Amino acid sequence: MNSLLNLKRGKAPSQPASFRGRWMSLLALACLLTLIVISCSTVDRLVVAPPQIPGAKFIGSKNCEECHSEITRDFKTATHARLQAKGPNAADMGCESCHGPGSLHSDSGGGRQTIINPAKSPNVCFECHLDKRGQFNLPHHHPLETGKVTCVDCHNPHRGPVVIGGGTSLATENETCFKCHTMQRGPFVFEHEATREGCTTCHEPHGSVNAKMLMARDAHLCLKCHFQPQVASNTLGIGGRSHTSRLRGGTCWTAGCHEAVHGSQIGSSLRY
Ligand code: HEC
Ligand code: HEC
Ligand code: HEC
Ligand code: HEC
Ligand code: HEC
Ligand code: HEC
Ligand code: HEC
Repeated sequence: MNSLLNLKRGKAPSQPASFRGRWMSLLALACLLTLIVISCSTVDRLVVAPPQIPGAKFIGSKNCEECHSEITRDFKTATHARLQAKGPNAADMGCESCHGPGSLHSDSGGGRQTIINPAKSPNVCFECHLDKRGQFNLPHHHPLETGKVTCVDCHNPHRGPVVIGGGTSLATENETCFKCHTMQRGPFVFEHEATREGCTTCHEPHGSVNAKMLMARDAHLCLKCHFQPQVASNTLGIGGRSHTSRLRGGTCWTAGCHEAVHGSQIGSSLRY
């Protein structure tokens, strides 16, 4: 039972606290009764069970330092190092929240098959980030299932911001995407300033219902930055010109007008 941890998340689900509290006690009871601790983690995102390894106990991150000193040293700067756990296991949160309990691994001096390496499967991440499993199941998503893309291509488990290049450095967040998507890097004669705000202003990085993993499938994608309704009372003004009739032709990027959304070599109005 003590492997059931109650983590504090930055973005909590929207149920009221009392409702959640009641659910958690029900949940805890259910866990005790069934002893199937892991299955409970799928019921409420607030309650997570770290991965289990048969016969192994949690020993704490300090123990890992001896043999993995570099990772342990840098881990202080990692987003996940700030995870807060309540309850008796609080001090144990850290390395083992992703790698599972480490006693067998440590006692055997790092024996094979004694510890979980999440590089091989995103399931460990989904244990706590259940919503991401959903996003990667949407019709348009990064191909996680083929192993062509993994969580660690874009996320740092061990050091610094977990979103690679995250924080305020959007240019470097884009670098993550350019590793695989060189076409969008340019250089372009006519840049589109929107890309400087980050690829994720228009794309969902995990998955979306819209083609090309877009945040919106129509002009709304562009109108959030290009909207000037004042041209005339009943016209839609964009870039100082009326677009009322143009928008009937399709989206801004498929109507033969601004196909080169990421940047153009031809003209400032972003054409090919
Ligand atoms: C034991 C539970 C747990 C596991 C396992 C876990 N995470 Fe997290 N993760 C969290 C919590 C809780 C937060 C929220 C921290 C915060 O908001 O301060 C978080 C935050 C994040 C964030 C940043 C969220 C933000 O808003 O900045 C990313 C990205 C992330 N995790 C990716 C991963 C990846 C990739 C894996 C697998 C290698 C993973 N996580 C495994 C619990 C977990
Ligand atoms: C958020 C989840 C998460 C946490 C917390 C975490 N790791 Fe990892 N760890 C990973 C992932 C994902 C990989 C695979 C990384 C890769 O292949 O690049 C990994 C790989 C490793 C490896 C294999 C060597 C390597 O570099 O491929 C070691 C050793 C390791 N972690 C030790 C630790 C230690 C020690 C801590 C605590 C200080 C820790 N990890 C905390 C997710 C995590
Ligand atoms: C007594 C030394 C020792 C201790 C203590 C130790 N490890 Fe290891 N660990 C190793 C050795 C040796 C390897 C194998 C390295 C290799 O195969 O290249 C290893 C490998 C790993 C791997 C990669 C496994 C794989 O299958 O790819 C992970 C993850 C890992 N350790 C995590 C941890 C965590 C988390 C802790 C603390 C709970 C820890 N280790 C404590 C010695 C240790
Ligand atoms: C193609 C790159 C990419 C891959 C692959 C990826 N992510 Fe992300 N992820 C991002 C970016 C960029 C952000 C920050 C922008 C945002 O919030 O949309 C992010 C944000 C997050 C967040 C915090 C914000 C949120 O939406 O809740 C979590 C948690 C997360 N990712 C988990 C994961 C997990 C788990 C995996 C693997 C199953 C994964 N990611 C794979 C790029 C990626
Ligand atoms: C590790 C390599 C890798 C990284 C990093 C990566 N991608 Fe991808 N991306 C892919 C692969 C592979 C596909 C699928 C391509 C295909 O099916 O033809 C893809 C597909 C896409 C698509 C959809 C294309 C389509 O035809 O539907 C978009 C949009 C996209 N990625 C944006 C991003 C963004 C934004 C980032 C950075 C947050 C990013 N990618 C990071 C490998 C990557
Ligand atoms: C202003 C919004 C916007 C921004 C910012 C943006 N994109 Fe796109 N992206 C689009 C649109 C719209 C499409 C669909 C174009 C189409 O269907 O021809 C697209 C398509 C894509 C595709 C699929 C290309 C193909 O030919 O199938 C990839 C990959 C991609 N974007 C990557 C990126 C990367 C990487 C960045 C960051 C440098 C980025 N995008 C920034 C709007 C944007
Ligand atoms: C994040 C904000 C943002 C988004 C979203 C965005 N843009 Fe832009 N766009 C800009 C900025 C900033 C400029 C440069 C200043 C200006 O001309 O308004 C620009 C310039 C342009 C220009 C050049 C105007 C000229 O005459 O030089 C075109 C065309 C354009 N965007 C089309 C689009 C299209 C199409 C979309 C949707 C796929 C889009 N934009 C989405 C911010 C954005």
